Amino acid sequence: MITVLNHPMITHKLTQMRNINTGTKDFRQNLDEIAGLMAYEITRDIKLEQVTIETHSGPYETFELQKEVILVPIIRAGLGMVEGILNLIPTAKVGHVGVYRDEETLLPHEYFAKFPEHLEDAEILVLDPMLATGGSADAAIEIVKRRGAKNIKLVCLVGAPEGVEFIKKNHPDVDIFLAALDEKLNDNGYIEPGLGDAGDRIYGTK
Ligand code: PRP
Ligand code: URA
Repeated sequence: MITVLNHPMITHKLTQMRNINTGTKDFRQNLDEIAGLMAYEITRDIKLEQVTIETHSGPYETFELQKEVILVPIIRAGLGMVEGILNLIPTAKVGHVGVYRDEETLLPHEYFAKFPEHLEDAEILVLDPMLATGGSADAAIEIVKRRGAKNIKLVCLVGAPEGVEFIKKNHPDVDIFLAALDEKLNDNGYIEPGLGDAGDRIYGTK
């Protein structure tokens, strides 16, 4: 399943990120804010369980989150989405996957993985602003699946049709959430119109 979260505030903030004149501080802030807005929508169908709590007027039957939420940002650019989502789900734990894309071959290379325990029982949100060829997201999803993860959502800001199709084919069980589905990949594997190199824009490395 793919969902494009068309909300006026998401579109407005994404427009600022697309603007080449937007600097590091505002790029990072908008990324964080969009991630938070997306999380609100993405968690709409999250499972609850019944609990009985003690209130000032006696016992009360109500609901709380059934499963732990684990965020899995793909380093580097996915890190820029973590704080915005933690504002909504402060109890979420965070695992990290390091994957970089070879600039020539566009193939993903894994260099780091560290996770909280019990991925198998958790709602996993894999985070990366960019879904281009889909190679990096595919690698990250494979890594969490190897560690037992079953309930996985992929959360990206901008996706290319090529990347969406790749993930749908390799991981039909993973729901994909985007803020925008863009037109295409260019010859260098960059999304058009896209955001440019998200990692570089977040961290000011170019
Ligand atoms: C970027 C981006 C994704 C990946 C997307 O990371 O953050 O992880 O490229 O491309 P793909 O879908 O074709 O794999 P990059 O490899 O540039 O690393 P960085 O985040 O460290 O800059
Ligand atoms: N990685 C990025 O940061 N941007 C793209 O457009 C493609 C891959």
